[in-house]
Order: sequence, then structure tokens, then C-alpha cells
Amino acid sequence: MISSRAVVLLVFCLSSIPKSLGFVERSWAESIALANETVNLMTLDEKIGMVRGVGQFSSRCVGNISPPSRSFIVSGTNITIPPLCFNDGPAGIRLGGSNVTGFPPAINVAATFNRDLMYSRGVAIGEEFRGKGIHVYLGPAVDIMRNPKAGRAWEGFGPDPYLGGEGAYQTIMGVQSVGVSACTKHLGPYNQEHWRYGLNAEVDDRTFRELYWWPFMKSVEANVSALMCAYNEVNGTSSCHNAALIGDEGYLRTEGFQGFVVSDWGATHDTAADNANAGLDMEQPGDWILIGGGVYSGLEAAVDDGEVTEARLNQMVTRILTPWLRLGQDQGYPDINFNAQDPDGTDSLNLNVNVRTDAHTALVRQIGSASAVLLKNNRTTSDGTATGTTIRGLPLSKDIKTIAVVGQDAQQLNLDCGGGLNECNDGTMVIGWGSGSNNVEFTVPPIDAITDFAQGFATISSDITSNDLTGGPAVAEGKDLAIVFANAMSGELGFYNIVDGNEGDRNDLNLWWKGGSLIEDVAAVCNNTVVVIHSVGPVPMSSWNTHPNITAIIYAGAPGEQTGPSLVDVLWGAVNPSGRLPFSIDDDEASYGTSIVYGIDPFPVLDYTEGLFLDYRYMDSQGITPVYEFGYGLSYTTFAYSSLSIEASASSGSVSFILTNTGSFDGTEIPQLYLGFPSSAGEPDKVLRGFDNVFLASGAKETVTIDISQKEMSIWDVVSQEWVVPSGTFNVYIGASISDIRLTGSFTA
Ligand code: BGC
Repeated sequence: MISSRAVVLLVFCLSSIPKSLGFVERSWAESIALANETVNLMTLDEKIGMVRGVGQFSSRCVGNISPPSRSFIVSGTNITIPPLCFNDGPAGIRLGGSNVTGFPPAINVAATFNRDLMYSRGVAIGEEFRGKGIHVYLGPAVDIMRNPKAGRAWEGFGPDPYLGGEGAYQTIMGVQSVGVSACTKHLGPYNQEHWRYGLNAEVDDRTFRELYWWPFMKSVEANVSALMCAYNEVNGTSSCHNAALIGDEGYLRTEGFQGFVVSDWGATHDTAADNANAGLDMEQPGDWILIGGGVYSGLEAAVDDGEVTEARLNQMVTRILTPWLRLGQDQGYPDINFNAQDPDGTDSLNLNVNVRTDAHTALVRQIGSASAVLLKNNRTTSDGTATGTTIRGLPLSKDIKTIAVVGQDAQQLNLDCGGGLNECNDGTMVIGWGSGSNNVEFTVPPIDAITDFAQGFATISSDITSNDLTGGPAVAEGKDLAIVFANAMSGELGFYNIVDGNEGDRNDLNLWWKGGSLIEDVAAVCNNTVVVIHSVGPVPMSSWNTHPNITAIIYAGAPGEQTGPSLVDVLWGAVNPSGRLPFSIDDDEASYGTSIVYGIDPFPVLDYTEGLFLDYRYMDSQGITPVYEFGYGLSYTTFAYSSLSIEASASSGSVSFILTNTGSFDGTEIPQLYLGFPSSAGEPDKVLRGFDNVFLASGAKETVTIDISQKEMSIWDVVSQEWVVPSGTFNVYIGASISDIRLTGSFTA
């Protein structure tokens, strides 16, 4: 068994190369000073060029600006500002020409509960963006999965703000470590695709701070260069014109954010003065694109008329230049070498520079296996021992001789669909569609990886060209093992990227292409059926998950391009699964306490009346037991928890316990810390406030310590407008999931 920690460290070393890139990071203060001096030398036209996009179809990147055509010498430094290239997106390069890696989206990184992998993925993505000459990575996306059908929820880290905050922090630290700017999106709450261009999210101050804002707060802590405001309105005002969010007295500036705010593409709906005075520093893509945009064409006139002061314009430009200087992008940054207007990569401006590396491929495979969540495993072995030859269940042994692979989700996906934009669900699902997708130019599908691996010891029969309810079971009947694949997909709303009738948000929670029926029909004829689900979020499972012939279920999420190899690693036990659900799985949407507003009337008001109660927090409060709960996931081994000790005051906490691998396989456990606030605080009963990722050889034990910061034990006090630690008794729950609590203690603050 490979030690997952050893692999993480290896990949980490290979990827961690900023110093050799030959740039020197500056402090914020030094960068601000240089930026100010530079701005003081610019003409009005030059400043306007810095804050306006060049137009949707006038750039080699998805966004760009017109920098001054001359250089400046300030404090002995030559400042030559290039066109600043902005490109999608959160899961690696999209529209960046060929030879890029198809990283898994954030929802799978969240399922690893592994900060090292979150960071390493950020470094690897940053290296690819830098290699293509992209200055600003349009990610991470940290939108909370308010409802499981939300089209872009897989771009982010799920419904829990703490997990999302850790994911955002590590991603940004990784990306920016190689000198690429990150841009966290989309502020404020942006949680569904239908009506996104104008719906109004009504959310109270406390809910906003504690849930939706939390990952942005962590982004600021990670020194993120930019934040993107969303299309929709928040509490009655468009996000990009919302001073309460982006103004000097708003959330992000009072939190200490020193970078710039850029609009989502076409998310400006008001006048130049409205947006600039509210706090919007840059408009993209710069022209009107049917849904909005183009308002900064009026900015120069607004400055001339005095509606926007020149001091404010200077501030906008300073905020754009500062992170560019801070990350040393003035020192030998690669030129833009691709053309985002040419998705096929055939245009002469697309040099198709190869930014793929073996280390990136290995990392994607590692994240794929580390994010696979083992939901069920009824294992039997020939001699009845844990280490005996497997007859049924996982990990598989090479004594399994006849294998059926069933379901179209096992086969190569359609790499050409939507002009290379992944706008279909045709083959295996590795990532959703829309701007959060990546090039998806190279994928190793499950059927190829399984066939390769099984060569020499097993025969593979398959029925994977459709989810044929006759052909699939026919192939599965009489085999030692059937592996049945099913999926569900969603994506971003666009103008025409409606996939099988789903306009971004999923129409329902169901598996696509009769996946549920296929699973049931295969299980009916093969008493060793292993189910693999590729999905962007929860899908119903209760009609088949307890079927006695279904010996194992793997929820593999959206694993990126190395989907097949990463699955093989888990199936045959090269990797002991340690993925945990970053959301709860239930059949019934009502269990989540929220809904998607489809409707027919333009621009609805969405009332976030559920407040702090999303996903497991809601289910817990309502006594709802989901099919599989948040934080849940099995291993091929077992772990025991003992000896809890808590040291805590009102300003910090430290929780220790002993973790022992009590089974016969080496493996990784994800201990989770849930905090129960004093009852007067009005919090859900348990909220995630810590986790770790601990590899232990069989029989080994380790003392694990999880620290809790003051903010993590605080609530947002709407009266004092501060984070406040409520006084009273805090319960501390250490568990293997939200429902599988192994140790309980308390402290008083
Ligand atoms: C999306 C953003 C994306 C931008 C540029 C918008 O439609 O909402 O997430 O970064 O397009 O492609």
C-alpha cells in the first residue's frame, strides 16, 4: 500500500518551484507605494485603459485591459505594464489552447479533506497559467452549495463554509506561490443559475458573514489579488454596484482586502459612476454583452463631470497594479501565447505551449483516488479474514477472473462536444460544463484503465455505449464481478448551453440516462455488483444502496482527467480510500431545506430564510437522517479514537486525541471536529470547525491535535458588527462524520 502522505510530499516537492522562477515577491506596502507613484505619472486616458476590459472578442484571453503604451521609472524600477490576461478557470485552463491538464474541480478537492492536496493542486494550476502567460486565474469559485441541484456547485467546495474556507485558502496560497494572481468568485451569494442575471438574494447580515462570506474572508487572509462580484443582486442592489459588499465601508475592505474588485463578465447593470463609486475597480469584458456590461465606456466622461473623482480613479488603478507588483509579475513574466477565441487550438496565435507535466498528471490521479468516497463495502474473503483473497466487495483481488463493465459513464467522453467546451453528458463525467470546466482534451476513461490493469489476470466484457437496460444485465450475468457506472451532471447557464434540458441547474437530483434502473437491473443478476457514481452532487440512492448484491459503492464525484487510473487505484487497493462526503446525500430535495427557483417570471427574490441551516446543519435540526451524511466515508481499515483532551479559553482552543489504526490495512483517516456553541448563540447543534488527514500503518497510533482559532469559536454579532465569542459551554465533538461522533468533551468560554 502506498503511503498517501509520501505521495503528497513527493508531488509537493516537484511542484513547489517559485524561487527558481526568478521573481521576488514584494510586500503589500512596497507594492502600494510603487503603484501609487506609477499612477501619479499616468494620463487620464492611460488610467481609463487600466480599468476597462478591451471587449469580449478583442483579446487572446477571456478578459484583458489596455495598458499604457509607455514604460515608467519609479524609485529606480522600470514599470512596463503588459496587457493583463484573465482566464478561466477554477479547475485548470479553459480556452487556453492544447496541452493543458484536466484538473478535478473543487468539489472533489473538498472530498479529500486534505490541505496538502488543495495546496498542491493550486501550485500545479498556477504553473500552467503562468506557462500560458495568464496573469489572473479566475478562481477559486467558493459559492456555497445552497441547494444540491445548483448548476455550478461543483466549482466550489460544497455547502460547508469552513471546508470552503480551507479550500479557498490553500488554493490561493498554491496558485499565488508561483506568481499568478488568484481571483475569488462570485461575491455575494450566487447560488443558482436560473435568473442569475438579475435575481435578488435577500440574506441577513449574520448568515452572510458566517456562511457565504466566510470563504471570501479566508481568501483575504491568503492575500488574494482580486475578487469578482456576481451577476445577481444582493439585498436589492446589484453585486457590482453594492457598496455594502465592495465599498470602502463594506465587507471586504473592512476585512483588509487590498487587491481589486473585477466585475463578472457583463455583470455591470448601472452607470459608470454608480459602479465606480460603489467600489468596482475593473469592468470586464468591457463591452455590452447582451446581459449587461460596457458601462465603463462612460467612465472618462463621469470623471470629467466630477461624478467620479480622479482620486477614486487613481485608487482603482492602484488596486489593480498593486497585486501585479506584489507577485513580481513585472519581472520576466511569460508572454501570452494562446488565443481564447479559438477553442480548437488551431489558430496561429495559439502556440499550444505544453504546460502538462508528469507531476501534474500524477497529482490529478492522486486527487482522484483521494476524493473517492467509499459509501458501502460488504467484503467477504475466501478464508473469512480481513486480508484473505477477496470474493466479494473491495479491494479486489486478482482472483476475480471475469469482470463486466456496464454503463455509458465508463466510456470515453465526447471530447468534441460543444466545440470542445464539454457541453454534453456523453461518456464518463469528469467535470461539469461552462466556464468552470477545463479543456477536457485528454481523459483516461474507466474502461481503458480497467482493461489495461486487468490484462493477464481477468477478462473484461462490457456494455458501455448506452445505458441499455437489456444489454448491461446480459453482460453482467454470471460474472465474478460487475462494475456499473452511472452519472449526473450540471453546469453554467449560458445562452445555448442547455444540456439535455438542464439549464445549468439540474432539473432534479436523479442519475442521468436511467442510471438508477441500470444499477438495479445489474444488481438483480450479479451478486458481486460494485457501483461507481460520477456526479456533481447528491443523487438518490435508497432504492438500490441496500441491495444485498451491491457489495460496494464508490462515490467518485467529478475526478478530472485521470478518472480511470484513480479508480483502479482504489478498486484494487493500491490506494486505501479516504475521501469523505463534502455534502449529505439524500433522495429527497426537501431534506436540504432549500430550493431552486425555476419559474417563469423574470428575476425572482430568493429569501435565504433558512439562515445558517444548510445541508447537515438543517438535517440535524429537523431530525432528518440522510442516506449518507456529511463527512462520511469508509476505509479498508478501521480506526479507534481515544483520550480526548481539550485546552481552551475564550481566545483559542486546542483539542487532542489518540487515533489508532485498528484494522489490517494501512490507511488514512479524516478526523473531524464539530463545535456545539452555547445554546444562547443560536447556532446549529454542530458545525465543522476542524479536520485533519492522518495516515497510519496498520496497528500504528498517533496523537492528533486540532486547533480552533478565536474567529472559529465566534459568531457574527449584528449589533456590534464584530465577531464575538459567546459565553457559556461549548461542546466539542470529534468524529468520523457528522453522525459518527467518537469523542465528546466541552469547555467554557
Ligand atoms: C462566469 C465567470 C467567468 C466569466 C469569464 C462568467 O459568465 O460567471 O465565472 O469567470 O464568465 O469567463
